[in-house]
Amino acid sequence: MIDKVYCADVRPDMEGKRVKLAGWVYRKREVGKKVFIVLRDSSGIVQTIFKKELSEKAYAEAKKVGIESSIIVEGTVKADPRAPTGVEIQADKIEVVQNVDFFPITKDASDEFLLDVRHLHLHSPKVASIMKVKATMMQAAREWLLQDGWYEVFPPILVTGAVEGGATLFKLKYFDRTAYLSQSAQLYLEAAIFGLEKVWSLTPSFRAEKSRTRRHLTEFWHLELEGAWMDLWDIMKVEEELVSYMVQRTLELRKSDIETFRKDFTTLKNTVPPFPRISYDEAIDILQGKGVNIEWGEDMGADEERILTQEFESPFFVYGYPKHIKAFYMKEDPDDPRKVLAADMLAPEGYGEVIGGSQREDDYDKLVQRILDEGMDPKDYEWYLDLRKYGSVPHSGFGLGLERLVAWVLKLDHVRWATLFPRTPSRLYP
Ligand code: 4AD
Repeated sequence: MIDKVYCADVRPDMEGKRVKLAGWVYRKREVGKKVFIVLRDSSGIVQTIFKKELSEKAYAEAKKVGIESSIIVEGTVKADPRAPTGVEIQADKIEVVQNVDFFPITKDASDEFLLDVRHLHLHSPKVASIMKVKATMMQAAREWLLQDGWYEVFPPILVTGAVEGGATLFKLKYFDRTAYLSQSAQLYLEAAIFGLEKVWSLTPSFRAEKSRTRRHLTEFWHLELEGAWMDLWDIMKVEEELVSYMVQRTLELRKSDIETFRKDFTTLKNTVPPFPRISYDEAIDILQGKGVNIEWGEDMGADEERILTQEFESPFFVYGYPKHIKAFYMKEDPDDPRKVLAADMLAPEGYGEVIGGSQREDDYDKLVQRILDEGMDPKDYEWYLDLRKYGSVPHSGFGLGLERLVAWVLKLDHVRWATLFPRTPSRLYP
C-alpha cells in the first residue's frame, strides 16, 4: 500500500504542502509548455500541472500518458480558484504504472456498449457515485437494524422450491437431483424467527423473468426482514422507519453523489414516517377515475403503478390486495376473505414497487388449502408447514429490492445501472 493522499482530501488550505497521489488520468490537456492532468481516484478528482520549467523529465512523461493510465504523482499543493476543485498540484514527479494509449469508452458510447464493457465502465466517477450510494444505503440499513434489535442471518441460495411462483425459477442440476436458485429467503427467515424473533438477511435473489422492463433484473440484492408477533400494520411501520432512515442517512452522507443525478430533493426529504397508506380498492378507484382500464381483482403493472405515483410526493403503501393475485403464504383478511393482509411500498416519481410485504398465514389447515388452491403439492412444503405445527405465532415480513430503491433515489432510468454487473435475460457477461 503506498502512502498517498486522496484527491478529495487536497484542499486550498494545504498550500505549500508536499503530497503524493495515485490514481487514473481523467482529463488531459496541453497549453504551451504545461500539461494539465486531472487525476481521478475513488474519492474524486484534483488537477495536477506539469511545467517544463519545474521538471523537464516529469513534463515529458506527462505529455505521453493517455486517458485512464494509472499514475503516481508527487508535487506541491497550490490554491487556484481556476482549478476544478479550487486547488492544484504543482507536480515534479510522475510514475506511469501503466500507460493506456486508447481507452475503449468515449463520450458518445451507447448504453448497450457501456454494458458490454461494464468492467471498464466501472472507471467512471458517475458509476462510482451510484455504488457509493448503494453501499451507504446498506450501511444505514445495518445501523437501523442493529439499533432496533434485528439479527442478521445467512440463508441458503440453493433451494428445492418456489416462494414466488414456479414460472420464474432458475433450475440447476444438483448431483442427481434438481435444485433452484433462491427467489427469496422468506421461508427460511420464517423458520429463523422461532429462535431469534426479529431476523433479516441480504442475499442475491434470482428470477427467471423474461420481462424486459426498467425494473427487472434476473439477479438482484434482496433485503428481507421477518418479525414474530407482528401483524401487517406493525411490519408496515418497520418498513417506513427503515426506508426513511436509509434515505435520510444517505442524504446526510452522500449529498454530493446524489446531486450528480437529481436536482430536486423534495421526495427524498418527504421520506419520513408515516407514509401515506391507501387500500387496493382506493387505488383502483383512483386509476379508474383517471381513465385507466382496470377492474377490481386485476393486478397492477408498472404502468398502473406509475400513474398512481403521480398522486404522491413520497413513498406510500397500497394494502389489502385480492387474494388470487398474491402469493400462497399471505394471511387471508379475517374481515374479507377475498383479500390478503399484504402491502406493497411504492416509490414516487413513477418508480412504483420497491417493497413487497405481508402478514403470513400462521394456520396449518388454511396454509395447506392455499397451497392446494395454487395447484402446488403440500409435500414440497413439508418443512415449511411444520412451522405451523410446533409453536406457530402471528408473524409478518417483507422484501426490499435494493437496486429499485437506489434507482429511485438517484432517478436512474433502469435498475441495471444500480448494480455492479447487471444480469438480465440477454446479459450474463461480463
Ligand atoms: O414482491 P416480491 O416478489 O416479494 C418476495 O419475494 C417476498 N417473498 C419477500 C418477503 O416478504 N420476504 O419481491 C420483493 C421485492 C420487490 O418489491 C422488488 O423491490 C424486488 O424485491 N424485486 C426485484 N428487483 C429487481 N428485479 C426483479 N426481477 C425483482 N423482483 C422483485
